[in-house]
Amino acid sequence: MFLRNAWYVAALDIELEDGLMPVKMLNERIVLYRKTDGGPVALEDACVHRKLPLSMGRIKGDNVECAYHGMTYDGSGQCVRLPCADRIPKGARVRSYPIVSRYGLLWVWMGDARLAQPSAIFGVDHYGDPSWGITRGDAMTVDCNYLYMTDNLLDPSHVAWVHPGSFGNAACESETVQVKADPTGVTAFRWMREVDVAPIYVPFVRFSGVCDRLQHYEVRYPSHALIKAVFVPSGAGGPEAEHHESAFVMDSYNFLTPVDEQHTRYYWFQMRNVLPDDPQASRLLADGVRSAFEEDRVILNAVQQGFATTHSPNIDIAIDSAPLRFRRRLRQLIDRERDARAEPHAT
Ligand SMILES: [Fe+2]
Repeated sequence: MFLRNAWYVAALDIELEDGLMPVKMLNERIVLYRKTDGGPVALEDACVHRKLPLSMGRIKGDNVECAYHGMTYDGSGQCVRLPCADRIPKGARVRSYPIVSRYGLLWVWMGDARLAQPSAIFGVDHYGDPSWGITRGDAMTVDCNYLYMTDNLLDPSHVAWVHPGSFGNAACESETVQVKADPTGVTAFRWMREVDVAPIYVPFVRFSGVCDRLQHYEVRYPSHALIKAVFVPSGAGGPEAEHHESAFVMDSYNFLTPVDEQHTRYYWFQMRNVLPDDPQASRLLADGVRSAFEEDRVILNAVQQGFATTHSPNIDIAIDSAPLRFRRRLRQLIDRERDARAEPHAT
């Protein structure tokens, strides 16, 4: 079950080079390519004739030619050439998807193209701000349903057990998580007071001694997250802490693209308010994040398998409050979208 009227990341911008790139998103096969001006195109990856994947074909200028009989489509999906025939059949058109390049990512709108608004793409604060540093974007495939990942991204507590060498430490075991929701999504958060700085953040924190630490885990519909970490000297935590003169802030952006019901493509990058032009700092953070996300992948793959092979009931616990709230609301949005699609046919 997927929300279709939404932007999802199809690829890192740098992944799409000169060739045809097949991707699978929300159980649909799409081919990506670039026109001669570099602009990206996203088309249904199936010729109207015999359904051969267009990704097996060739790029011809701004168009793509099917490898089977040379049927050629332009960037709008319209067939513009049909060799060995007098005319192009009516309806010889493949679906084209709205596609936008932003933040080094290619975003594809999977629903009704008339509703696609680039302004609805997830906002990234400080992007392009020279006083903020950024890690290179990265990606991985996780062999689980995307909702196990939204569960994880609404669960600040798991860092104590899954990431003790990076995001977590003993301080993360006890403080209660709070939850808030608005029309865009759900946030699980907590301030931890007088705690040690967790390992991955130590090279970036500019004060010594214990800290107050915010974990802000926000997931917005359909499946995109801002994980904000704030560290300030002990006693300075609170709503204005982010602006404290020695605050270390890391905003981790996490974008989930369901491949199908059992696989998710995971894209991310991080913004930080220190060491903006320090490639070594970026590399250190990028490598640390990558290995922490590999720890998540091990857990999430196993959770998918656990649910697939176990028939005893699952017990929800206190930390599931935010994930369950997110799942309930997303389900409503998906149902509403499906009902709206069905309406024109109902009499
Ligand atoms: Fe994690």
